[in-house]
Amino acid sequence: MERMPQEPDLGKHIGEWWKENCARAGFWPTLRVLLHIFWQFARDSMPSRRRRRYGDMDFDWDFRVDTTSATVSWRDRLLGEFHSAYQPTEPEAFHAMLSAVDLDLSRLTFLDLGSGKGRTLLMAADYPFRRVMGVELLPALHRIAQENIEKYQAESQKCFTLEAICCDAREFVFPPEPLLVYLFNPLPELALRKVVANLERSLAEHPRAVCVLYHNALLEHVVAESKLLHKAVDAENYALYVTDGPAAQDRMAASRQSQAK
Ligand SMILES: C[S@@+](CC[C@H](N)C(=O)[O-])C[C@H]1O[C@@H](n2cnc3c(N)ncnc32)[C@H](O)[C@@H]1O
Repeated sequence: MERMPQEPDLGKHIGEWWKENCARAGFWPTLRVLLHIFWQFARDSMPSRRRRRYGDMDFDWDFRVDTTSATVSWRDRLLGEFHSAYQPTEPEAFHAMLSAVDLDLSRLTFLDLGSGKGRTLLMAADYPFRRVMGVELLPALHRIAQENIEKYQAESQKCFTLEAICCDAREFVFPPEPLLVYLFNPLPELALRKVVANLERSLAEHPRAVCVLYHNALLEHVVAESKLLHKAVDAENYALYVTDGPAAQDRMAASRQSQAK
């Protein structure tokens, strides 16, 4: 039986965040960011903002699952403010992004780093991926992702090997198979650097096809700095990077040309 990770201690989490940021940016800038986080949290707790979060419920109605950001507890929302708040990917955007990946998906494992309640795992299951995996830091969201995987039923489902893992993406060991790594702003810059370094180490040990699909790529420069990944698609709300390898590069280039026509 899976051992459930403990709920993170809020005080300890904030303390570690404070130490790390003070060491990097200094006391006053860190205090300013801390006050901003609390102000943002208070603002997002207002009834009007809470009501607005229910605007992402269509997917849940359609598939009888729980992936909305509206029902995340205040504690997990506050924790989220210190790394990355839970917000599920819009289905329309997800399917548009995947249609730009012109690779044989049946060879790839879909891996969402920061998978939250697992909406992308369910949406990715509609594609013929070899398997689908999600890594989420917060145990409460991870548990809901597991329940969603159990509940999900769709005629369109093509992949039935789905797994949600609860751990810190910084510590996650990449499986040595071809991957499509999905990122929707799960991490602040330092943590994303660590993840990219882990991915590069994994690629050096096990050279293979890997693409990184980065939705709303706020920290794209971190991925772009990698010597092992090359930009294949540059779209308004996402970027797609692929590892070197004639087959992958050629096919992505062909796909770009046909999109441009
Ligand atoms: C913007 S949400 C994206 C959710 C999901 N990927 C989607 O697109 O529907 C970012 C998620 O990353 C998670 N996260 C933040 N830091 C993390 C870490 N160090 N390891 C794993 N997950 C993390 C957050 O808890 C949150 O659920």
